Amino acid sequence: MKLRRRSAVVAAGVAAAALLVPAAVAAAHGNGKQDDTSLRALASKQGLRFGTAVDASQLGSNKAYTDIVAGQFSAVTAENAMKWDAVEPSQGVYNWKAADDLVKFAQQNGQAVRGHTLMWHNQLPSWLTTGVSNGTISDAQLRDILHKHVTDEVTHFKGKVWQWDVANETFANSWETPQADGLNADDFWVKHLGSGVLADVFRWAHQADPKALLMYNDYNITGEDGTNVKFQAVYDFVKQMRKQGVPIDGIGEQGHLDTQYGFNAQLYQNDLQAYGDLGLKVAITEADVRTFVDDPATQVPTDSLAQFAQPYEFSALLKGCELVTQCISFTAWGVYDGDSWIPGTFSGEGSGLLYDVNLQPKTVYSTLQQDLQLAAGTKKHGPVGSDK
Ligand code: XIL
Repeated sequence: MKLRRRSAVVAAGVAAAALLVPAAVAAAHGNGKQDDTSLRALASKQGLRFGTAVDASQLGSNKAYTDIVAGQFSAVTAENAMKWDAVEPSQGVYNWKAADDLVKFAQQNGQAVRGHTLMWHNQLPSWLTTGVSNGTISDAQLRDILHKHVTDEVTHFKGKVWQWDVANETFANSWETPQADGLNADDFWVKHLGSGVLADVFRWAHQADPKALLMYNDYNITGEDGTNVKFQAVYDFVKQMRKQGVPIDGIGEQGHLDTQYGFNAQLYQNDLQAYGDLGLKVAITEADVRTFVDDPATQVPTDSLAQFAQPYEFSALLKGCELVTQCISFTAWGVYDGDSWIPGTFSGEGSGLLYDVNLQPKTVYSTLQQDLQLAAGTKKHGPVGSDK
């Protein structure tokens, strides 16, 4: 009881400290101008893009949010606006508005766009999932529909998207029984169209935009779950695809961490390097580090050590990318704790991002800033914005 009360007091102190942001710091985040110490400016000194997932609906309507996105980040990913259910809510009826607005914003602010995502089992339009489950869409038709979706979406954004997450989360987790080739037999796409669909979506995307970088994106593929099973499966499969001439350019490691599990930073770096040594680029695509918090509205960590663990693990994610030459971008999955997917997905958890619920920079922000400062000029990840 005593301990609990003490940690609540400490936690409250941390929250109060976070609110006392010096005016100069607040200005650097809120005026929308890039300064030398912004994440994007520092990252560019090593040829790296520092990105964020963007909630398209807050751009423009939330000024503080918009200024931070423009001022701090050099790459943007639509958190939801490019997913299939968003762009084709009824069959054959496209709605590109939110995604187009984001692309325009990116162009105006010198940012590269990560396209997310073409083939995934989640956030599919209901006309598609209903049609498949009631049998009105056969597997042969489903294949044609997927082909059309990939072609239409990549064509729509042709020349405007730097990297596409072509396929997302199709491999089995280490606690599941995989197919012989490591794919998840229960994945919607693998189940209906077989393992070959993976190579197909990359070929289709390449046909539609030969210049975009085409990535396979997933979580726990660099040993974060304490095993290297999923890494090995992805590594072997992708190596095989490369041998067969499938146009895959890179691996997106999502980077969703949780302080309760620990993190083997060396294994992560080794695995990123192993993908790089296959001739692939790598990107950290959805970084966040969650922890248990008091309440979704305030997101004050309940364990006082989380104030060290959260920046530490985030920093390890960034440093691994900095140490691997083939790593071209590092993207946080959202701007601030108030709009993160974490509280709604992981009960009792939050505080995963760089800015708090009031859009104030947290300790993790300055930790990452220091990491970038230390590495400035030391490694070249390729000219910022370079494609193939
Ligand atoms: C999440 C978004 O953040 C949420 O807003 C949405 O409700 C569900 O999807 N892996 C992914 C992302 O590849 O697309 C997911 O994004 C988070 C997990």
